[in-house]
Amino acid sequence: MTFQPNSPEARDVAYHMHSYTNARTHQEDGPLIIERGDGAYVIDNSGNRFLEGMAGLWSVGVGFNEPRLAAAAAKQMEKLPFYHTFGGRSHGPAVDLAEKLIQLAPVPMSKVFFTNSGSEANDSVLKLLWYRSNAMGQLQRKKIISRLRGYHGVTIASASMTGLPSNHESFDLPIANVLHTGCPHHYRDAQEGESEAEFATRLAAELEEMIVAEGPDTVMAFIAEPVMGAGGIVVPPETYWAKIQAVLQKYDILLVADEVICGFGRTGQMFGSQTFGMRPDVMVMSKQITSSYFPFSAFMINERVFEPLADESNRIGVLGHGFTGAGHPTGAAIALENLKIIEERGLVANAAEVGAYLREHLNSFDDHPLVGEVRGVGLLAAMELVLDKDAKTAAEKPGQLGKYAAERLFAHGVISRPMVDALAFCPPMIVNRSDIDGLISALGKSLDETAAAFDIAI
Ligand SMILES: Cc1ncc(COP(=O)(O)O)c(C=O)c1O
Repeated sequence: MTFQPNSPEARDVAYHMHSYTNARTHQEDGPLIIERGDGAYVIDNSGNRFLEGMAGLWSVGVGFNEPRLAAAAAKQMEKLPFYHTFGGRSHGPAVDLAEKLIQLAPVPMSKVFFTNSGSEANDSVLKLLWYRSNAMGQLQRKKIISRLRGYHGVTIASASMTGLPSNHESFDLPIANVLHTGCPHHYRDAQEGESEAEFATRLAAELEEMIVAEGPDTVMAFIAEPVMGAGGIVVPPETYWAKIQAVLQKYDILLVADEVICGFGRTGQMFGSQTFGMRPDVMVMSKQITSSYFPFSAFMINERVFEPLADESNRIGVLGHGFTGAGHPTGAAIALENLKIIEERGLVANAAEVGAYLREHLNSFDDHPLVGEVRGVGLLAAMELVLDKDAKTAAEKPGQLGKYAAERLFAHGVISRPMVDALAFCPPMIVNRSDIDGLISALGKSLDETAAAFDIAI
């Protein structure tokens, strides 16, 4: 593509190296430049309006132009634009938010530690759990188990815990002490004739085998998203979490719930841990905590985790960890207002109700020749596309089908994300039935156009 000289597109290509983008094809394709937001919709610099079917990056819960968040930010900026939390310093928004999060926690939690991104939070969790093992004299207990297709971020530790090949290849990852167990995707990973319950039993047995093979006294923690997000919106079988937690309990292994996507209503309850009956020792939060109006993250730890950390910091004289911007007053003020909006407007219940409506309508395409599986919970859903339903196979090149369908959907005014050949939907939690009707109508056209392009009779 040739770009107008000096246009935003030309300057983007000239000066900006993008996250999660093919840096070479970007030089040809150029950027999509979004100019403003309007509720669940965004508008580009040519005036095209899109339903943001991914809430940005799974994150803009309250929509793209919430004046109360802008006002909360401005008010805090004027009063105290920055203060830190090192050396026992604090400020009102951090105190209020820490208290609020502990009150919201679905299981007893003790303390909140603030960070700036999901990756940084997960990285910090691993580091602090190593510190805890040392504090407890368990010098060999340093391994963490995550899952294939799990997503936990991109720093060296969090990318190691992420179970996706493109986060490891050529990055010299994963690091030592990070192991990956199976993904609970029944449609893709179950054996012939295996029921969902049997599949969950097998995954728990495989986890136990891994723990025993590694040596139970070397395994410190298990980290997982309640529902996998970036790995394909994988909703685990109903009995999965009970069986996994029984294994963790047996070997006294900590559970870290990565609630970065699930937290604050996405699954139809305040936390994914509630939706799936998880009892985590650590809960990691980001994204919808501020509806991404400010980079912000945090994790909560229970007493079991906190006490040895406190002792070790006392022995050494300081907890030698923390980030300049952590618990930023503006971010914390936005988070508090955002949580207030989520509660006042009943957005958690809305995610459950409109999410059920979305899935019901996605399921109306079950007989479409391209639709292999529809899955989801709350306002998180995926439609996995195949060319052969029985063989569950897509095009020769994985991702080709999903990419084409997402491009058609985009042409019809809906932003979604192809995850290999699954289309992901995670719209802002403020969406209503009429927004979903628009999405479904665009999806119908996109599926038919995709079928035509791949020579599949409808
Ligand atoms: C479950 C989960 N954990 C961690 C992260 C990493 O967050 P960040 O991109 O803010 O570093 C993400 C991002 O998508 C995520 O989905």
